Amino acid sequence: MRNNRHTTKTTFYEIHPQSIKHLGLGHPWITKDSYTDKFPQKPGLIATASKDKKSSWIFIGDPEHKSVKARYWSEYSNARFKKHNFWNEFENRLDSAVTFREELRLLEERENFFLVFGEADQIPGLFIQRLGEVILVQSYCNFWDASSKILFSIIKKFFTEKYPTQIFKYFFQSRNKKQKIIIQEYDYKNDFVIHNKNLDIECSEFGLKYNLNLGRSYDIGIYTDMSSIRKKIGDLLKPGHSLLNLFSYTGAFSIFGLKKGLENVHSVDLSQKYLDILQNNILINDLPKDAHQSFCSSVDDFLKTATKEKKKYDHIVCDPPSSSTDGKKTTNALKNYEKLLPELSKVLNTHGHLYLFLNTHKVTWKKFENEISKTIKTLGLERVRRLSPTEDFKKLPGFIEGDYLKGLLLKKIIKST
Ligand SMILES: C[S@@+](CC[C@H](N)C(=O)[O-])C[C@H]1O[C@@H](n2cnc3c(N)ncnc32)[C@H](O)[C@@H]1O
Repeated sequence: MRNNRHTTKTTFYEIHPQSIKHLGLGHPWITKDSYTDKFPQKPGLIATASKDKKSSWIFIGDPEHKSVKARYWSEYSNARFKKHNFWNEFENRLDSAVTFREELRLLEERENFFLVFGEADQIPGLFIQRLGEVILVQSYCNFWDASSKILFSIIKKFFTEKYPTQIFKYFFQSRNKKQKIIIQEYDYKNDFVIHNKNLDIECSEFGLKYNLNLGRSYDIGIYTDMSSIRKKIGDLLKPGHSLLNLFSYTGAFSIFGLKKGLENVHSVDLSQKYLDILQNNILINDLPKDAHQSFCSSVDDFLKTATKEKKKYDHIVCDPPSSSTDGKKTTNALKNYEKLLPELSKVLNTHGHLYLFLNTHKVTWKKFENEISKTIKTLGLERVRRLSPTEDFKKLPGFIEGDYLKGLLLKKIIKST
C-alpha cells in the first residue's frame, strides 16, 4: 500500500516586503493588501514565503476580517504546518500563558484576570479570561470560530487536568457575520448552546463581589485590564479621603475606594444603566451607601457645577472613551485633556492625586506624556509615574496595538485658586 500513499504539496503564498519588514520589527499582523487578496478564502493556516523563498512562515488566515488578514504563528516547517502539531503547539502556549499568571498568584486576590492575552501570549486574536467560575473565551479572529470545537475540547481538557478539583463553566463570545456578538456555552455534553438571554455571573476582585453579564456584549460590567491598576493605586487611597470617579462606568474604582474607607465618593457617567449596576455593586458588597453619590451627567457639565460649588477631591480617576461623539462632532480623548485638565485641577485638593487614562494604541506613551506635560505646566500638577496593566500581560515590542491602555499618575503640588 506504501506506493499508493500520496503527499500533497504545500502552496506558499508570497507576502508583501513591507509585511516582512514589520514582522522583523515584531509586528505579527498582515493587513489587507494586493498580496492578501490571493490568500485562501477560508480561515486556516497559511504557509507564506518571501519572494526569493529563503524565508517562510506560518500565519493564521482570517479572510473575513476587514483589515487583519493574517496573524503570525511561527516560522514555517513541514512538521509545524501539520494540524495536530499546530494544536499541540497551541496547548503548549496555553500552558505557558496560564503558568505565567499562576506564578503571579493573581488568584489569591482576584477572580478577574486574563489567562491568555492574544498576541502577547503568542495566541493571536484569542483572549481568555477567568471570571469567577467562568472561563470566558473571546475571539477576534475567525479562525478560532471556525475551529471552535477542537479549540474548546483542548481548553476544557487542559483546565480539567490542571485543576481537577475545580468545576468551570466555559463560554465563547464571538461575532457573527453581521458583527453581532453571540455568546455560546460549551456545555457538559461538549457541545455549544447559544444563549439568547442575559447571562448573569458573579466574580470577586480584592474582596469585592461583582455581578457581571456575559450576554450583553463585550461590555460585561467590569474592565479586567483595569484590575491591576486598581491594585497599583490602592495604597494611596486612605480612609476618610474623597474620590471623584469620572466616566465611572459600573464604578469598579468607586466601590474599590469605598472598601478602602473613602468617605466621599462621587461617580459620574452619562449612562443611568451603568450607574444602576454601580448602585447594585454597592448593595451586594454591603458598602456604606451614604458615602457614595452617583451623577448621571456629562463630565463637562458635572465639572462646571462642581467648580461653582467649590467641591474638592483628594483623588480623581478620569478614564474617558478614546473618542466620543455627540452626533455632530467627534472629540478625541487626548485633545480633550487640554480642555479637561484645567477643570480637573480646580476640583483637586492640594497634594491630591489625579489618575488619567487613555484607551487607544493610536497615541504612543511618548505623545501622551508630552501632551499632558505641556498642559499641566501652569496648573500646579506634576507627573508622578505611569500606570500600566503590566501584571496581566506582557507587552510585545513592535506591536503597538497591544499597548492600548495608558495611565498617568499626577499630583497637585500647588494650591489652586
Ligand atoms: C472606558 S469606560 C470607563 C471604565 C471605568 N473607568 C472602569 O474601569 O470601570 C467609559 C465610560 O464613559 C462614559 N461616558 C462617555 N462619554 C461620557 C461623557 N461625556 N460624560 C460622562 N460619561 C461618559 C460611558 O458611558 C462609559 O461608561
